Amino acid sequence: MKISVVGTGYVGLVTGVSLSEIGHQVTCVDLNEKKIEKMKRGISPIYEPGLSELMNKNILENGLKFTTSHVEAFKDAEVIYIAVGTPEEPSGAANLDYVEQAAIDIARHIARPVTIVTKSTVPVGTNHKLLQIIKQNLLHPVRVDIVSNPEFLKEGSAIYDSFHGDRIIIGAETGHAFKVMETINKPFGIPIYKTDIKSAEMIKYASNAFLATKISFINEISNICELVGANIENVAAGMGMDQRIGGQFLKAGIGYGGSCFPKDTKALIQIAGDFEYDFKLLKGVVSVNKKQQRVLVNKLKQCFSSLQGKKIAILGLAFKPNTDDMREAASIQVTNELLNLGADVIAYDPIAIDNAKGILDPLVRYAYSVEEAIAGCDAALILTEWDEIKRLDLSVFRQMEQPLVIDGRNCYSLDAMKEARIEYHSIGRPSVI
Ligand code: UGA
Repeated sequence: MKISVVGTGYVGLVTGVSLSEIGHQVTCVDLNEKKIEKMKRGISPIYEPGLSELMNKNILENGLKFTTSHVEAFKDAEVIYIAVGTPEEPSGAANLDYVEQAAIDIARHIARPVTIVTKSTVPVGTNHKLLQIIKQNLLHPVRVDIVSNPEFLKEGSAIYDSFHGDRIIIGAETGHAFKVMETINKPFGIPIYKTDIKSAEMIKYASNAFLATKISFINEISNICELVGANIENVAAGMGMDQRIGGQFLKAGIGYGGSCFPKDTKALIQIAGDFEYDFKLLKGVVSVNKKQQRVLVNKLKQCFSSLQGKKIAILGLAFKPNTDDMREAASIQVTNELLNLGADVIAYDPIAIDNAKGILDPLVRYAYSVEEAIAGCDAALILTEWDEIKRLDLSVFRQMEQPLVIDGRNCYSLDAMKEARIEYHSIGRPSVI
């Protein structure tokens, strides 16, 4: 089918590339000329494993196109995906300016029947509103169907997830729209769940809120494990064997970050609040997460009488491994707090340093290897569980006069740290002293 995708962020670009890969004729449209020029040359604007390769393959073999022109993108499209951002407003609500503008742009350029598919995460009721906006702005009286098709891919494994997702949610109200979506998605071979539009919109928020709840829950349990002397990894493994609970998303750490959970949890609280419903449980999840981002600095404070002038290495800056994304990363709060306490902060990340430079306090210094970051430090804090960090030869920590590692991601076994004679504090596990 002839498909256009509006917006070339994580969701838009991955959607465009994967729809092209399964045989559709795809055009990605974005207003940012520089970005489009780069993508035309096969250069991905984001770091995502496998994305550049698949992009290039599809540009060459399947005619995947990039353009800034609405005329070019919309005039022949049978289906148009909206995948623009819905950033957080100061109130926590989702900002719908970009999706509404996309709807207007589409309406002004289509001249044949089109199915509009919303991939962006939007509050319940938005798709109906978008259909209204489109109908009001149509220049040619053509049939328009609207579909809510929320995205569930994870940064760092977005390409894999696109082809191996657990489900494709299709929220629609006409037989035609369901048929179009089934035709498009059949080659993915992923189970399709058909529902009404509002439920599809809600499935996205409820799923992210539930996963965030799992994380805050296990983080609270990890704090209690530390108090009672239990080990969170054994606890999570034992809990996860119950299929009703499930073993995934039970990894205790320094709280969730990224562009989705922090934004979507707050937006759902706001959506409920709009109907005067106080979503107490989710408010608790958000506040536990904020508190959890402070645990590493609290542990570090217990090791020194003062952090003034102490040299602290930060290993890992991105909100999770395999991405250069710094949005809502715990490293922002941790580095700010350390600087406020008078510490000298030197940070290393395999790929997020360029992004970090625009986000972290300018007083943060950067190292270009783990060794360089650790040399002469008083303590090393691990914030992101990159494979490179997990696989370190532990002797590297011997570069510290008195090796002290505070690990927010439980990267190493307690036995290995004991054997290496490194003072080691992690999350929800006994300390090695
Ligand atoms: C999340 C969801 O997992 C996707 O299904 C969803 O499509 C996406 O949001 C979105 O709404 O677009 P993402 O934010 O890319 O994906 O990353 P996750 O792998 O979910 O991790 C989010 C955060 O939770 C990270 O900071 C990670 O370190 C943390 N986390 C995750 C834990 O602390 N413990 C866990 O067990 C799992």
